[in-house]
Amino acid sequence: MDENLLTQTVSVAMTITRSYLRDGDTAIDATCGNGHDTLALAQVVGRSGRILAIDLQKDAIDASRQRLAAHQIENTDFVCGSFVQLETYWRAWTETLVEAVSEPKAVVFNLGYLPGGKKNITTKTEDTLFAVQQALSVIAHGGIVTLVLYPGHEEGAREREALLEFAAQLPASQFHAAYVKFPNQKKNPPEILWITKK
Ligand SMILES: C[S@@+](CC[C@H](N)C(=O)[O-])C[C@H]1O[C@@H](n2cnc3c(N)ncnc32)[C@H](O)[C@@H]1O
Repeated sequence: MDENLLTQTVSVAMTITRSYLRDGDTAIDATCGNGHDTLALAQVVGRSGRILAIDLQKDAIDASRQRLAAHQIENTDFVCGSFVQLETYWRAWTETLVEAVSEPKAVVFNLGYLPGGKKNITTKTEDTLFAVQQALSVIAHGGIVTLVLYPGHEEGAREREALLEFAAQLPASQFHAAYVKFPNQKKNPPEILWITKK
């Protein structure tokens, strides 16, 4: 077992997400970045599963492609664009596939900026809210939308507040929202919000 599995926020988020995924499932990585999350998703759904990975930046798509190629992963397709078009990308992608795929069981948003990249290319509150609503619309019943939040920078703090407010007003008859933060880490450590669809 990875010793950091339950101490690093991103690993905790992926552990939660993976528990909703099975061999053959479909999932979306809405911010593939350097491809760590995409790789984890691609591995858990296996050869018969499918992943759609999105990122605004070509550098991120290239890095993710390389990471997956290095692991001989072939079940993933990429879109370079904004997650504000998540539902459109999802529908267009399903039409390109030879075999029909089921609705995504998971959509992952690891927010903020690309580690090692330009900090001004970061996820924006209004866009993220719009994309999360689309993700909740497209996921399967019993599926999950997982968000890693970074309140340590200004836009990230605004994004966190808006997302928590959004999650709090979701109808409890249709969705379950949960949220964790890590009290004894550095100042403003990343947090996790996840929403499941009943
Ligand atoms: C924290 S990084 C993601 C890390 C990544 N999941 C990984 O495993 O390496 C955040 C990513 O969000 C991307 N991003 C920012 N705004 C976006 C948007 N509107 N649509 C899609 N991606 C966006 C950035 O380009 C960046 O790569």
